[in-house]
Amino acid sequence: MKEKFIVAIDGQSGCGKSSTAKAIAAELGYIYIDTGAMYRATTLYLLKNDTDIYNEQALENALKQISLTFRNSKGGSEQEIYLNGVSVEKDIRQQFVSDKVSEVSAIPRVRRQMVGLQRALGNAGGVVMDGRDIGTVVFPNADVKIFMKADLDIRAKRRLKELEENNIPAVLEEVEKNLAARDKIDSARLDSPLKKADDAIEIDTSQLSFDEQVNKILDLIKSKQVA
Ligand code: DC
Repeated sequence: MKEKFIVAIDGQSGCGKSSTAKAIAAELGYIYIDTGAMYRATTLYLLKNDTDIYNEQALENALKQISLTFRNSKGGSEQEIYLNGVSVEKDIRQQFVSDKVSEVSAIPRVRRQMVGLQRALGNAGGVVMDGRDIGTVVFPNADVKIFMKADLDIRAKRRLKELEENNIPAVLEEVEKNLAARDKIDSARLDSPLKKADDAIEIDTSQLSFDEQVNKILDLIKSKQVA
């Protein structure tokens, strides 16, 4: 039995990938890598430094200054992202980052840097990684591939609740608009668009409770582990 699986969870914005991936990693004793947080932290750096992202040299120089690391938080049960040694876990969820992150993540040079880091972090297995291109590009040979989706209005309500829980002010209509815009850019971009890998299992979470979606994926992983 292969112990240390690579579990890839891809899907649209706000369909519950990260909370699901986090719960699965905790249950299996795996590490969880939030690749969206990496694109967000990079976007935060580029915005804060007024980088002209369409100027090749300026982008190159900026990307060389970015160091991303994950550290355990909450007694080891969660991971926090650090940008050049400073925790940015909260800053990267702000609306001004959400509004720009899809544009930044469509740039091939940015993706190259993130994918390199993601492979280094996940290669040894024992990892649950969530994002848009994990099963298609980052780990096309992942042991388990899940593609999650949910209706837009349901995703918007869930995302709003999450933001409110983190004391980040938000308006439902704006959250919904941002999710729809990001779906569009993420799916239409030329480099690594959001799409289901041929061998991924699709799970629509619109009508599922959180426990149901977590258990469904855990059962899938366990059935593959004994296969
Ligand atoms: O998962 P998230 O909503 O925090 O991701 C933020 C953005 O980052 C998302 O709109 C697209 C981009 N992203 C990506 O292009 N590839 C990934 N593997 C993860 C995220």
